[in-house]
Amino acid sequence: MEKSDGRAKIEWASAHMPLRSQLKEELAAEQPFRGMRIAMSIHLEAKTACLAILLRDAGAEVWVTGSNPLSTQDDVAEALAEEDRIFVRARHGVSDAEYSEHLHAVLAPEPEMILDDGGDLVEILHKEAPREILGGCEETTTGVARLRAHAETLRFPMFAVNDARMKYLFDNRYGTGQSTWDAILRSTNLLIAGKDVLVAGYGWCGRGIAMRARGLGARVTVTEIDPIRAIEALMDGFAVAPVCEAIRIADFVVTATGCEDVVSEEALREAKDGVVLSNAGHFNVEVNLEALRRMARSERTVRGGVVEYALEDGRLLYVLGEGRLVNLALGDGHPVEIMDISFAVQALTLRHLVRSGPLAPGLYPVPPEIDERVARMKLETLGVGIDTLTDAQRAYLGLER
Ligand code: NAI
Repeated sequence: MEKSDGRAKIEWASAHMPLRSQLKEELAAEQPFRGMRIAMSIHLEAKTACLAILLRDAGAEVWVTGSNPLSTQDDVAEALAEEDRIFVRARHGVSDAEYSEHLHAVLAPEPEMILDDGGDLVEILHKEAPREILGGCEETTTGVARLRAHAETLRFPMFAVNDARMKYLFDNRYGTGQSTWDAILRSTNLLIAGKDVLVAGYGWCGRGIAMRARGLGARVTVTEIDPIRAIEALMDGFAVAPVCEAIRIADFVVTATGCEDVVSEEALREAKDGVVLSNAGHFNVEVNLEALRRMARSERTVRGGVVEYALEDGRLLYVLGEGRLVNLALGDGHPVEIMDISFAVQALTLRHLVRSGPLAPGLYPVPPEIDERVARMKLETLGVGIDTLTDAQRAYLGLER
């Protein structure tokens, strides 16, 4: 195989991002971020490189680092660093210390705005180097949950991009659904049809992962702690069971909960011989790797990103991508067209932040007009039309004209 070329990867992604192309024309003419610095902590691969270039074209100086030690693609990072007014501090496989150093490095130029994915930049701006900034956006469920837990003490406004309908309905569900299986398939080279799959968590990501597992021919069991989501999974046609029960028959386990210790020591004791364990949640805390290492008498890498743990009782358990979000650690992340939608929401929300002038500190929803604008743009690029309410229908529904 030819050596990968970061610039070609960025061009390929860009060619499949029609919303970005439309926004580029609009934002490059308008220059909403002229003279501003934006710090980004985000999974650094070709689609995010396109977002950084869009923000730069809209006037900003952009400082970029990763949001996970294993999700940076070095060839893309290298190509991005050659761009004018874009500064990259990221490397695949950084140590925890280097990861933290990079986060601090992108904040050193004192950016006016941040684009966070998981809440690490916000944490530094509150604990280690407290500073007020104009504000920022948070990309993922776990980051928004962290912001929500500290909403009263936030020092600046943050927009919950994850909670925009045009984000979670497509990115979390269809994006994670497809890319998680892509990563599992390419890293293991195993068949899914006829196998038993355990999906932990039936949120937006879990729904997508379960849906695509079924599409590949697997029997799927969902584990949940929320009784309503459990009923939803049942009525969607999946089996539901506690993790310690479901794991006894599972050939593949995928966690997507945002919670820790989901595949606990107790669950690992019950796991079927040969099970492949993976995680699609933001942090590498969902599979209890500490317990697994304690239980194992040896470990070895059997394929790229696939580690075999040989347990004292003879069972072999496999972990993908060190339990980090598998679709990014062992794959290319979400499909390009999905990130095109999410990043259109990001770019328009940052422009909204600038246009709004200084806002009070706190957690803000993405304005519904942005969601609707992005949805309409997407339909237009697909050549799909929809109906419009007549005046009489609006009156019937009690809506303003
Ligand atoms: P969500 O809040 O919609 O769903 C999480 C679900 O997990 C909920 O239904 C909850 O009841 C359930 N849950 C919580 N603790 C559990 C436990 N111990 N056992 C079983 N179920 C449990 O969240 P969403 O949007 O699905 O995100 C899940 C995680 O995935 C987050 O960490 C998020 O940041 C991350 N994420 C990852 C992406 C990727 O590319 N891999 C993309 C988007 C989000």
